[in-house]
Amino acid sequence: MCQYDVRRLFRMRLYVTIIMMVMMVSAQDLDDLLNTCIDSKHHKLKPGPESTLFEQCMPWKERSCCTDEVAEIIHTSSPYNFNFDHCNQKMSDKCRRHFMQDHCFYECSPNVGPWVVKENRSWRKERFYQVPLCWNDCQDWFNDCSTDLTCTDNWSINFNWKNTTVGCHGGAKTCRKNYCPSQSTCLTFKQIYKTAENFCEKVWDGSWKYSTDKMCLQLWFNGSTGNPNDVVTQHYAQQIISTASVTTPHSPPIIMVPNPVYFSEKKLQNQDL
Ligand SMILES: *[C@@H]1O[C@H](CO)[C@@H](O)[C@H](O)[C@H]1NC(C)=O
Ligand SMILES: *[C@@H]1O[C@H](CO)[C@@H](O)[C@H](O)[C@H]1NC(C)=O
Ligand SMILES: *[C@@H]1O[C@H](CO)[C@@H](O)[C@H](O)[C@H]1NC(C)=O
Ligand SMILES: *[C@@H]1O[C@H](CO)[C@@H](O)[C@H](O)[C@H]1NC(C)=O
Repeated sequence: MCQYDVRRLFRMRLYVTIIMMVMMVSAQDLDDLLNTCIDSKHHKLKPGPESTLFEQCMPWKERSCCTDEVAEIIHTSSPYNFNFDHCNQKMSDKCRRHFMQDHCFYECSPNVGPWVVKENRSWRKERFYQVPLCWNDCQDWFNDCSTDLTCTDNWSINFNWKNTTVGCHGGAKTCRKNYCPSQSTCLTFKQIYKTAENFCEKVWDGSWKYSTDKMCLQLWFNGSTGNPNDVVTQHYAQQIISTASVTTPHSPPIIMVPNPVYFSEKKLQNQDL
């Protein structure tokens, strides 16, 4: 081989290496989007199987971001000492079960990657934002809560959090609990929110987006036949990766990248001729 060939060969090697690095980055990005737990107080680092996940969180037990212990607390009190009875009236069971399911999703679902955003709060560094919630899950939730009472629409932001010694989970002597803001009035969900769409989108400060699209995430599903949200998340993840590849040349979609071995061999053959 003359020196010219060696240099071309070297350049080719370099090119192949770069392509392979790009592929690895893309695969990593995709895995981050499809297989992720938010960075928050009770979440596991990565989704994985759990033994039972207690009643309503059970659909996530094959691949979950929550532990059995957290799932149980969701059913008995709240991992955040969140007071659902903030209007001095016990929330109805039919309403409460939707909030439990919502909380199971929040703690357990590995399908939120495409909607993760950074946040700087003492109990979490990430949250999910505008996850497309199937409209019928939202509608059922709102219907079952419509005559329950609350005093504010934006529950993530508007409550007063105060120390208390009453009803702290896990036998703690004191904890912080949410109380109605001063000047607020207890009204029915129907009066406060008017519509299911407004309710789902506001209650957790935009975590949910009311969706009539086929590609939406379900709150209620039977996990025995798998998690129907996997394929939906895949759809949005692919969309994000291919959009990113159009705007930044560093992460093309995986399918667009030529097979590096085939590519290099072909080139070398041509060169040899
Ligand atoms: C997060 O907030 C705390 C307290 O407000 C502040 O000290 C810290 O610098 C913030 N961190 C980031 C990454 O913004
Ligand atoms: C609330 O309790 C925490 C410890 O649990 C304590 O650090 C804080 O000072 C208390 N705040 C008030 C306003 O009493
Ligand atoms: C919740 O309240 C905060 C503070 O008032 C506001 O910035 C935010 O837009 C509200 N979220 C929604 C979904 O309305
Ligand atoms: C889920 O579906 C399986 C099989 O169809 C059924 O045996 C099981 O009872 C269902 N579980 C729930 C909680 O509906």
